[in-house]
Amino acid sequence: MTSVTSEPPTAARRTGLRLVVAGVTPAADDVRQLTLVAPGGGCLSSHPPGSHLGLRWRQDRVNSYSLTSDGESPAAYTVSVLRAPDSRGGSAWAHELRAGDFVDAIAPRSTFPVAARARRHLLVAGGIGITPLLSHARWHIRWGGDFTLYYCQRPGRGAHLGELRDLCGDRLRVYGNRDALWADLGPALVRQPLGTQLYVCGPLSMIDAVTAAAKRAHWAGSRIRCEAFGASADGPRAPFRATLAAAGRSIDVSAEETLLEALERAGAGVPSLCRSGICGECRTAVARGRVEHRDLVLSAAEKESGDWIMPCVSRGAGDELELAL
Ligand code: FES
Repeated sequence: MTSVTSEPPTAARRTGLRLVVAGVTPAADDVRQLTLVAPGGGCLSSHPPGSHLGLRWRQDRVNSYSLTSDGESPAAYTVSVLRAPDSRGGSAWAHELRAGDFVDAIAPRSTFPVAARARRHLLVAGGIGITPLLSHARWHIRWGGDFTLYYCQRPGRGAHLGELRDLCGDRLRVYGNRDALWADLGPALVRQPLGTQLYVCGPLSMIDAVTAAAKRAHWAGSRIRCEAFGASADGPRAPFRATLAAAGRSIDVSAEETLLEALERAGAGVPSLCRSGICGECRTAVARGRVEHRDLVLSAAEKESGDWIMPCVSRGAGDELELAL
C-alpha cells in the first residue's frame, strides 16, 4: 500500500539509508514493483511483516510504501507502487525509476504488525491494500500461521494475484466487487473462533464497513487492526491556539494549516514521517485541552484519554490546546 507524502528531516537523518533499484516489474496495470538492494550487496535489516519503507522522491518529500516481503533477513526490499493520477508527484517519480538508479530511503518501520499471539488471522484487502497483507501472508506461510486472505480488486487489475494464488492456494478468496466480498466475509466474521485477529487494509470506506460489521458480530476492538490509504485529514478545519507548556509560548494555528505545520513555522517542529496520521512518528503529549482526533494510529483508549495528539492531522477541539512541549 502506498501511504502518502511527507518531509521528515529529523527522522530521515536518524534512519536514512541509500538503496539501488535492482529491478522493476509490473504487478498489475498501473502498479509496478520495485526491488531495492544495498549498493554493495548483502543483507538488509529485517523488519516485521506489514512494515513501511519511506522513499525520498524530493528533498523535502517522502512517500511511505508497504514492504511486500515477510522481512526475514531480506536480500532486497520490495514495494509495489500504484500510479496515482492525483498524486503530489511521488508515485510518478517511482514509476520513472530504472534499474541502477539510487534512492534515498527511510529504514523500515512497523506500522501494521501481525498479532503474534492470535490463533488465527483473517486478512481483508481492498485494491492496493493487498501489499502489507501479502507480507503478512508470506510470514504466516513461513511460520505455519492459520490464515485466510479475502482480496477485493477490480477484475483484471488485482496486483500480485498470480503470486498470491501460488502462495496461498485455497487460503485466498478473490472478489471482483464489494457485494461479492460481503456475501462471503459477512458470515465469516460471525463464525470465527475465539482468538482470531482481523486485519483490514484498503480505502477508508471499506475499513469503516468491515470494522462496523465486525463490531456488530461482537469482535473486541483489540482484535481488529486497520491500515488505510490515509487518515481523514481533509474534513473542515477551525483555527485554534496551541500553547507550548514547557517553552511558555503560544502559536496560532490557522484553518489553512495543520498543527504540525504551525509548530514547524514557529521553529518547534516534532519528528514526522507520513504527515497523514498513519505512521505514529509525530505523537505528541497533550497537557490540557480537548483533541479532535483524525489519525489512524492511536487506539480508541488512547484517543479517549486525551493524553496524545498526532499533530500532522489532528487538531484542538476547542479554542486552545496545551502541548507538553
Ligand atoms: S507524521 Fe505520521 S502520524 Fe504524524
